[in-house]
Formats: sequence, structure tokens, C-alpha cells
Amino acid sequence: MKSHAFLILLSALALTGAAAATRAAGGAPGPAQVLTKEEAEGLIFERQQLMKQMEEDAETLGDIVAGLQPPDKLGQVTRSLATAAHDMRATFEAKIPGGRAKPDAWANWPDYSKRMDDFELKAEEMAKLGEAGNLPAVTAMLGAALPCKECHDVYRLPKK
Ligand code: HEC
Repeated sequence: MKSHAFLILLSALALTGAAAATRAAGGAPGPAQVLTKEEAEGLIFERQQLMKQMEEDAETLGDIVAGLQPPDKLGQVTRSLATAAHDMRATFEAKIPGGRAKPDAWANWPDYSKRMDDFELKAEEMAKLGEAGNLPAVTAMLGAALPCKECHDVYRLPKK
């Protein structure tokens, strides 16, 4: 009985160890990550959907700032942008060239990655101000919080 329980404990420990090793390997993004064609296409689709959502939100925000729409959606729309700015990282971390993304995004990963970090930080700051209903502060940081064109100019291919 005793040795049986010991064996179960041992195999449980081995499993925990294996899971930790898998987590460590899976946690490191990079070319070693192997995705199926469907998964890769899914990621490209996902990042394009995120971008489209951001475009819609940025337009709504632009209308609010310009006084063309009441500011009741200010919190919602700035939060949505911050969420997308956060979520976009995961769709680029696996190196999947395609769509209109230039391969430079991965070739210059430190720069691309830093742009995403800065975007995420600023968008989060703006969402907090938006949720507090602070339209003047949101307006003041609009350019800094939405570096859409700056990134596209360098890392997005022109439309075909
Ligand atoms: C750090 C870089 C970066 C930032 C910041 C960024 N984008 Fe993009 N965006 C890209 C890349 C790369 C693509 C091409 C993605 C693809 O086709 O796989 C893209 C594609 C797009 C597309 C086309 C999507 C489609 O396929 O129809 C839109 C629209 C867009 N972005 C809007 C925005 C808006 C709005 C913002 C700011 C709120 C923004 N992006 C911020 C890099 C960025």
C-alpha cells in the first residue's frame, strides 16, 4: 500500500515537472513555435479584425473630440482601444508574416515590440482619462495615444 502511494506521488511530481517544462518552452515566443497553417491564418485574420475594430473606435473617438457625437461613449471607446492595443501583441508575437504586415516587423522586432508597448501604455492612460469623462485630457493626448500612422508608415505594406 505504502509503496503504491509513493509511486502515485512520484508520477504526480513527474507530471508537474513536465507541465512546468512545457510552460517554460511555450512561454518563449519565437520562431521555434510551430503553428499549423490554419492557426497561422487565424492569427493573421485576428490581427486584421483587431485593427479594423481600432479603426472604427478611432473614428468614433475622432467624432466625439470634434463634437460631432455626444461624449457618452468616451469611456467605452477609449477602453476598447486600450484592450485592442493590449491584445495586438499576442497576434504578432508568433512570427507569422502575411496580410499587409511587412516582414520588417519581425526582422526589427525590438523596435516593433517597443512601438506596441508604448501604444499599449498610452492607450491605457487615455482609457483611464476617458472612463473618468475627461474629454479635454483625452483630446490633448490623442496624437500620442494613437500612433497608428507612424507604425503603418514603417510596417504596413501599401494596399494592392
Ligand atoms: C505597432 C504597429 C501598429 C500600430 C500601433 C497600429 N497598427 Fe494597424 N496595422 C499594423 C500592421 C502591421 C498591419 C497589417 C496587418 C496584416 O495585414 O496582417 C495593420 C493593419 C491595419 C488595418 C487594415 C486591417 C485590414 O486588414 O483590413 C487597419 C484598418 C489598421 N491597421 C488600423 C489601425 C489603427 C486605427 C491603429 C491605431 C489606433 C493602428 N492600426 C495601430 C501595425 C500597426
